[in-house]
Formats: sequence, structure tokens, C-alpha cells
Amino acid sequence: MIVTLLFWNDADHRNLIIPLEHPNPEDIIMDKKEQVAKEALSFIVQGNVVGLGSGTTASQFIKILGKSGLKDKIVGVATSLNSDKLAREVGLRTVDIDSVDWIDVTVDGADEVDKDLNILKGGGGHLTREKKVRNKSKNYVIIVSDEKIVTRLAEKFPIPVEVLPFGHKTTLKELESIGMSCKFREDFITDNGNMICDCKPLEKFDLQNLHFRMKEIAGVVETGLFLGGEKTVLVSNGEKVEVLK
Ligand code: 5RP
Repeated sequence: MIVTLLFWNDADHRNLIIPLEHPNPEDIIMDKKEQVAKEALSFIVQGNVVGLGSGTTASQFIKILGKSGLKDKIVGVATSLNSDKLAREVGLRTVDIDSVDWIDVTVDGADEVDKDLNILKGGGGHLTREKKVRNKSKNYVIIVSDEKIVTRLAEKFPIPVEVLPFGHKTTLKELESIGMSCKFREDFITDNGNMICDCKPLEKFDLQNLHFRMKEIAGVVETGLFLGGEKTVLVSNGEKVEVLK
């Protein structure tokens, strides 16, 4: 924590020393996450089937939805076991994805968003369920703090890839053979019983091409590249929320 001392004179011209605490950077980011989560509530109406994302930002949204007047008027489809548990804890009803014909709106977080609104997801390891829920959604709303906006995807963050345990070392070698440096996430098993391999491209790459080449490898379940598709991205800089489409 950073502490600043503010020197001040009181009415009697005595020196006062007032310690001022600078907010913790993590608290600032959490405030931004809360701000976009609140904004996302305006996309939900009574009777909606709502896709519930995963991660800290999406969790804020789930909590806000649980406190709202819409709580008993919507049903949720969770993108992870954690989100499902949280949703039920805050009083939301959740249903299985297969029990609905479509999802009206999904609200989810992201790890990176580029200028064309391509998205990198899967920091929490829930990318396959997140993509399955996105694919069934009429409206897709991504909520992020402004640190998540990047020039190119996978610049800072590796691409998470969900991989079957069977032959996983071979799958890693095959992923590396297309020009990436890959590493399995230690002590991590997805909700689907699989592994997550974090892959860093070694040079500039075409997003679509890379995604398709990864998907051609037997044993790759899904990649964290969420490319194209209609979406709304809400970005908070702490002061205001910008809407990108
Ligand atoms: C989980 C995800 C999350 O949405 C992503 O990692 C962002 O998380 P956070 O809101 O905690 O920054 O894709 O698989």
C-alpha cells in the first residue's frame, strides 16, 4: 500500500499531517469490473434465458443479477460449475444448456479484446463451455476493464487450449509444431475432465488460420480464440463505460 502524507494548516495555523491512502491497483480494477457488470444488467429483460459467464467480472454480474428485481424472472445457463454454484447461491435458477432452444443474452468476461473485437478467453479454463454457450446466444455481451484491450491477441496472454488427457504429451508436440511454445497448466482439470495447454505463438500469425490448425489436431477440444460473430463489448476505464460493437 502507498501512503502519502498531506501537510495542511488548520484554522489556528497549526501544521496538520493527514495520511492519504492511495487505492490499491487491484481495487481499482475490481471497481471497473463492477462498473461494467452493473451496465450489463440493462441488456437483460424479464423472461430471458441468460448465459452466465465465468471469471471475476462475470461473477460480479451474477451477483448483481441476483440482487436485482429480475432475479426470479430469468433463468440462467452457466458456463462453469463455479458460475452455476454462485448463481444458485445468489438465488438464480439455472438450467442445463440442452433444456433451452436458445439463450437470449450471454454476459461474459474476457482476457483480451482486439480492435476488431476478436476475443481471447479461457484464463479460468472454462473456454469450451463458454464457447458452447456463446454459440447458442442471440446476444453476446462481453464485459471488461480497459486493461484487456490489446492491439493483437495473445500479445500478453497465451492462448488457452483445452486438451484431452489421452495422448496429451503428443498433442502438446503437435501444437508446438505449428509455431507455438506450449505448457500444460499445472494441477488443473477442467469441468469436462480435460487439461489446459497455454500456447504462446512464436511469431505473428493469422488468427483464423491458427485456430483452424489447432482444431485439426486430434485431442484438441477447443481453443480460447473467440473470433468474429456479433457482439457488444462494454469497457470500463473507471470513469465511464464505453460500448463497442
Ligand atoms: C474464464 C474466462 C474469463 O472470462 C476470463 O479469464 C476473464 O476473467 P476475469 O473477469 O476474472 O478477468 O474466459 O475461462
